[in-house]
Formats: sequence, structure tokens, C-alpha cells
Amino acid sequence: MDRLTRVPGLLYGGDWNPEQWPEEVWAEDVKLMAEAGVNLVTVGVFSWARLQPDAHSWDFGWLDRLLDLVHRHGVAVDLATATASPPAWLVRAHPELLPVTADGVRLEFGSRQHYCPSSPVYRAAAVRLTRMLAERYHDHPALALWHIHNEYGDHVQECFCAESAADFRHWLRRRHGTVEELNRSWGTAFWSQRYNSFDQVEPPRTAPGPVNPTQLLDWRRFCSDALLALHRAEKAVLDELSPGLPVTTNFMSMLKALDYWEWSRHEDVVSDDAYPDPADPRAHVNAALNYDLMRSLKQGRPWLLMEQAPSAVSWRPVNVPKRPGLYRLWSLQALARGADGVLHFQWRASVAGAEKFHSAMLPHRGTAGRGWQQTLALGAELRRLGEIAGSRSRARVGVLLDWDSWWALELDDHPSARMRWLDLLRPWYAALYDRGTSVDFLPPTGPYDGYRLLLAPNLYLLDTATAERLTHYVRNGGHLVCGPFSGITDRHDHIHPGGHPGPLRELLGLVVDEHWPIPDGETTSVHLDGRELRAERWSEWIETEGAETLARYGSGELTGRPAVTRHRHGTGSAWYLGCHLGPDTGRVLDLPLAEAGTGPELPGLPDGVEATRRRAADGTEYLFLLNHGPADRTVPLTRPGTDLLTGTATGDTLTLAPLGAAVLRLPAPEERA
Ligand code: GAL
Ligand code: ZN
Repeated sequence: MDRLTRVPGLLYGGDWNPEQWPEEVWAEDVKLMAEAGVNLVTVGVFSWARLQPDAHSWDFGWLDRLLDLVHRHGVAVDLATATASPPAWLVRAHPELLPVTADGVRLEFGSRQHYCPSSPVYRAAAVRLTRMLAERYHDHPALALWHIHNEYGDHVQECFCAESAADFRHWLRRRHGTVEELNRSWGTAFWSQRYNSFDQVEPPRTAPGPVNPTQLLDWRRFCSDALLALHRAEKAVLDELSPGLPVTTNFMSMLKALDYWEWSRHEDVVSDDAYPDPADPRAHVNAALNYDLMRSLKQGRPWLLMEQAPSAVSWRPVNVPKRPGLYRLWSLQALARGADGVLHFQWRASVAGAEKFHSAMLPHRGTAGRGWQQTLALGAELRRLGEIAGSRSRARVGVLLDWDSWWALELDDHPSARMRWLDLLRPWYAALYDRGTSVDFLPPTGPYDGYRLLLAPNLYLLDTATAERLTHYVRNGGHLVCGPFSGITDRHDHIHPGGHPGPLRELLGLVVDEHWPIPDGETTSVHLDGRELRAERWSEWIETEGAETLARYGSGELTGRPAVTRHRHGTGSAWYLGCHLGPDTGRVLDLPLAEAGTGPELPGLPDGVEATRRRAADGTEYLFLLNHGPADRTVPLTRPGTDLLTGTATGDTLTLAPLGAAVLRLPAPEERA
């Protein structure tokens, strides 16, 4: 069974910051946790100053008492290494560990995450604290999971100090070997940027004009690696001193700064912090996208929702609470997309500090109001859903995601600054979401086995090996849809010569003569099967070389020229969208979806209802139905089952109230026979 921790069933709980409270309050906390069905709390995330009051003393007594207390109440602990916020005494003794911006400003103490990722002093202190905690608690019976640090890259993603510069140079030496190779890779013949030695290289600090793009790209790669090196230093200590206990760090959904494909290789459990905005009527679509990524990072293994808000957050300009029913629905959505637990920021609402207006499982009003009732109700429902823990899902449509390409796409001085990865990805994802078709994310390196259809909304940076892999996939019957401005550069961000889309030209059966960005506020019409679609942001002058034209431009300079093409290759097909179709993207994607035979999870799904499936090892299926809309919706069902939330058997249809949900257990096919 694929369990995240030794705690049975689904995980329920949150960050608990007991150092903010006198110990008398703890007794009430654990009593209420037991009442709510909380089985896992994250402790110590910001406890460094309390655990190590100065350079020479440690104070673990309070944490000993706390862990014993929660254990007596049957609650397990996700113990944090407490390294995300170094204490004042350490910072004052070593001000050089504070991070420096690209403009040379040293950021002050007084918030959190005030450290340079490459600081040897910070790293040594963090590793030492991790070691002390691991030595002391590795066999504590309350311990179920280790929580390294907190949200790497949340506030500080890069540092431009001298220490970081030295670390960057080391990294460059490892990557390029010789300065000649670095010069070649960075294209320093341009603008007289040639280096004679690595010592002459600096991070891309604020400069008079555009900075070398490959330098910037290598910097993005380095910054992700520098934070990962910190994480791995703590992980190594935990693996050594606490073998067998799973380790996680909380990710931040689709975060540009960190290459989560690389990071997740070093996680035992993938966990995520998710804060969809209740004021955004389509927030659940973006949440689904993030959850699909978390599930995909370990190829479908269950993941953990480490943090969500029970209601409002405190860091948006306007913090709208979750209307009744939304908290429950959004919690179930994480489970529907592969989570095996729902945790929160935070257990008890703070009365001081920057987050005192953030909602909590136990609000300021205590157990009297609606908030606490919701906490009790969700705990009870998660207990009813316990059997879904460990079940998995696997889509037949894969979306290619590559951080290298994301970083390179968003470098400056491109034909259009409007080509942003998330803006390109979202309409593609939304089209699939609205059609009820499940997707997994995949790194471009694959493997692609089992996927009928691959979607690549953008692959600006594309090496020849990946292009060959994609060609092989299509030749052997796969279907690929590629978005615009793809196949442009190699891994050094040098243009593939001979016409765009470089190594995809043969597979797609076309050449792009020139990119034709569309000015802000304007659109170009595209004719597809007698229907008119609107392109925005981007179009291209395409000349086909074997591909069939499926849609043509109907207005502007490119009138009559190909906008969407298909090229049969081997037994599969390769589609190309030469423009950004925004909300009309789905009208084109319908064609490859039909050709690949990748339909919705449930036929006839009404608008606004989300349907996903998870499968247990014994073949039992769990069908999640979530009504995100404001009206009743009736869902046609294809198999009889039981709604785990109500315990009732279902018939041919099921009606969901607004924000209503059902989790149907469908017996394995053998069982039914
Ligand atoms: C997260 C963070 C938590 C808390 C929360 C508030 O980004 O990890 O510590 O600040 O946001 O929403
Ligand atoms: Zn630094």
C-alpha cells in the first residue's frame, strides 16, 4: 500500500505554533484536536529562536513535553527542522548571512527567510540544528514525518552577495569545465562580453542594459540548485539519523523559481501549500492544475496538502473568506486529485505577528462559531473517506512541463514579452478541465508510455534529444499537440539554425518564416471548419512542408496563411498551433482529443461539475464528483456505487447541490461479475 506515513487513513491537521502560547493552552489544544479528528500536526516550523536561544544554549524541554503530550492524545507529529527563520543572535553575529538583492541592498532581519542560500554560516547552523533535532527525536513515538525548512523560495529565491558569486562560479566550473566552454555557451562574442577566467564572472546584478540571456538562464538553474543543496544537506542528516522516517518539504504549487522535477527526486513525500482565492470564480481550475502537478511529481503517488487556509488568508490586498461549503469542497478537490491528507495553516489563530488576521482551524472566537464547526465537520468526513488513502490515478493525456524552457521563454528581448509560460499553459489546461478530461504533467524526458496524447503548450527551449524522443513517440502511434514559439533554442539558449521550429520542423511538417506577435488589445481571426476563433498575443507566418492546414488566419497581414496544422507521421500525428488562442484553445484541442480517443472521465458531465477517479490496488474505484457551480446539477452515472460521504447507494443519476460533492465507491469489475 502506498502510504505517506505510518498514520492510517487520511491525514488531517495543520501547522501548530505552540511557542506562541503559554503551556496551559496546549492542554486545550490537544483536547480539541482529538475532538476534531486531527491526526497529524506540523510542529516547530518557526521555532529556531526558541530551540536555540543563543550560540551556546539549547532548549528542548518544551518540545519534549509537547511531543509527549500530543502522543498521549493519539496525534502524530510532522516535525519541522525549524531552519526557515534564523534567530537574531545568529544574524547579528554574522550579518553576512543576510541576502542581497540584484541592486546590492542587504535585506534586514525582522521578517523570515532572511538568509543567503549560499551562506556557509547559515548552512552550518541549519545543519547543526537539524542534527540536534534528529538525534533527540528520531525515535520519539509521536514522530511520523520530517518537515524540512518551509517553502524554499517563498521570499528569497536568489542572492547577489560575494558568497553567492563564489558559489555561482563553482557551479559554472562544474557545468562548463573551462572558461572557453563558458564563453561559447554564453555567446560572449556578442557585445564584447568575453571572459578570460572564471574569476571575472559575477551574478547577473543590475546592469546598464539587457544582461546576457544565457548568463541569466544559468543563474536561474544555479538558484534552484543552490536552494536544493541546502535542502539536501538537511535531508542527508535526517536520512542518516532517522532512517525509515519519511521526509518532505512543502512546495509552493507551480513555482517558477524551483525545478520541482529535480527537487521531487529528493523528497520521500511530495507536499504542497495551496491558497486558491475565494474571490476568483475560476480558482478551482488553477487549483486542479497545481494538484495535478503535485500528483505527477512522483508519477501518481499520493501527495499531501500541507497547508491551506480554512477561510481567508491575510496577505492579499483584499482577503475574502470562503463562503459556506467552499472549504469542504476545495478540501475534497485536493483528495480528488490524489492528496492523502488535508493540513492547514494553521491550527490555532495567532494573536500577534504578521498573520494574526489569517484564518485557522481554531479561530480567535474559539469553539463558538462557524469556523470550529467546519473544522469538526471536515474531520468527520475525512474519517469516512479513510479507505481512499493510497489509491492512485493515471491519465491518458500528458502535459509537458520543463523548467529550463519556462526560464528561457521568459528572458527579456524576445519578439513579445507577453509569452509567459503560465499564461500559455492555463487556457490549454482549462480546456481539458472543462471537458472533464484528466491530465498528468510530464517532464520532456518522459517516459511517455501509456499516454495517448501529449500536449506541449510551449517548448521554447528544446534539445535535439527531446525532439527525437517526441518524433519516436509520434511515429509509433502517439499524438502530439505543440503550441507556438516552440523548438526555438538549444540548452544554451542559442537559436536552432535553419528555420523554426528547429528540431521539430520535420515532425510538424512546416517551417516558421517569421514570428508575428499581436499587439496588446488586438486579436486576429482564425477560421476553423467554418467557425471563427480569436488569436491573441501571438501568430506566425507558417509555410507547410507536408503538414495539412486545418485552420487559416481570417484577418490581418497573415490572412489566408496556416494557423493550425496536422502532420501524419508514422502511425501518429503531430499538430501545431501557430498562435495563442486563449479561451478558444479548446475548440482546436477537441480535434486531437477525438483522434486520440481521450474523452472525459464521465460522459455527459454537466457544466461546473468536476469528475476524477482514483483506483485502489484491489481495483476498487473512487469517483469524485464536485459541483463548483451555483445551481443544482444532475450527473448521469454509468455504474452503481456507494457515496462514502453519506453511506447511500446511488442509482442512474446523482443530484449535487451548489458546492455539493460525492465520493462514490465503485467495486472492482471482477467483484461486480
Ligand atoms: C505559507 C507559509 C505559512 C504561512 C501561510 C499563510 O506561505 O508557509 O507559514 O505564512 O503561507 O497563508
Ligand atoms: Zn548570498
